[in-house]
Amino acid sequence: MALYLVTGGCGFIGSHLAAALAARGDRLRVLDDLSTGSLDNLLPGAELVQGDVADAALVRDAMQGVAGCFHLAAIASVERGVQDWLGTHRVNLTGTIAVMDAARERRVPVVYASSAAVYGDQAVLPITEDAPKRPLSAYGADKLGCEQQALVAGHVHGIPTLGLRFFNVFGPRQDPRSPYSGVISIFCDRLSRGEPVTVFGDGAQTRDFVYVADVVAALLAGMQAASVEAPVLNVCTGRATSVVELGRTIAAACGVAADIRHAPPRAGEIRHSLGNPAQARALLGLGEPARLREGLDQVVAWLRDGRPGLARQRALEAQLS
Ligand code: NAD
Ligand code: UD1
Repeated sequence: MALYLVTGGCGFIGSHLAAALAARGDRLRVLDDLSTGSLDNLLPGAELVQGDVADAALVRDAMQGVAGCFHLAAIASVERGVQDWLGTHRVNLTGTIAVMDAARERRVPVVYASSAAVYGDQAVLPITEDAPKRPLSAYGADKLGCEQQALVAGHVHGIPTLGLRFFNVFGPRQDPRSPYSGVISIFCDRLSRGEPVTVFGDGAQTRDFVYVADVVAALLAGMQAASVEAPVLNVCTGRATSVVELGRTIAAACGVAADIRHAPPRAGEIRHSLGNPAQARALLGLGEPARLREGLDQVVAWLRDGRPGLARQRALEAQLS
């Protein structure tokens, strides 16, 4: 029974990782400032260190006695990086350096969330890990900075790390009610309530949507793969879906007509994002990823249940058993 630090553990992906760590008998310390995460997503029984991941002293304390750190805390929205360049940089890059700095005394392995945003637009699809990095947004540039700092962490300080370039992650507990939320959570929420959705641009832009359970499998397996070489792997499905097609598929999953409106494209947008999952599958021993529709059905069911956080869901399950 090991103790792990999960930064961002009250967020969408962090809450799923927390549940999976607990299910295999591990203990958990969560560091989160609850800015986009919520207390309702805190795993019951987990220790909470509430505060800022860029606060070096706080992170150093939170790192005490842990077997490994999963670093997920970040401002996860590309659009917020456009609006608040410096503020998102502080959290997304300085926060990562604070985590690696705190890991250095005992060389605690760190598995951290990078992003497909490091690639920008690529001529060759699907994208393999060695493709040239051309981030188009502050968010992507900071995630690339995290990967470069991980090289320093390994080379200079002997800290084992693994970076996981998540493509577009979706699933239950992804907050649908902020303008900065992921497209699937927004579309499922609005269409299931009979409201129209807005597509930015022509909607022909494509994304590789990966279900959160597959991301958690990569995170868990990734802790053993962390090394001072600072490897990075794609976490994706190898399947592309356009935003308009997504709107239609979600409308079908909700049993409503697709009411799709258009607005101007967002700044700093990638046109096509499609990953090659082969390396991660081979190195981490991952299985076949969930189909888009399977995952969408889970999101729609979660919305129908009133969007419970992890804690409320645990309480509901306890009542039923
Ligand atoms: P999320 O917003 O649900 O989770 C982020 C968590 O970090 C939240 O609980 C938030 O409160 C916390 N946090 C934010 N700023 C903080 C700060 N200054 N100090 C401490 N905690 C802070 O987002 P998510 O989708 O779960 O993303 C998790 C990680 O995965 C992020 O690093 C994100 O960049 C990365 N990622 C996400 C996606 C995706 O599609 N969701 C894709 C690629 C990478
Ligand atoms: C997402 C993640 C980011 C991650 C990146 C990796 C979120 C909020 N962001 O960025 O953390 O690093 O994937 O690939 O999860 N769109 C609409 N209408 C809407 C909302 C979005 O048309 O109401 C479009 C956007 O313009 C974009 C696509 O849907 O073309 C996806 O947008 P979004 O879900 O915000 O994700 P990314 O910007 O791809």
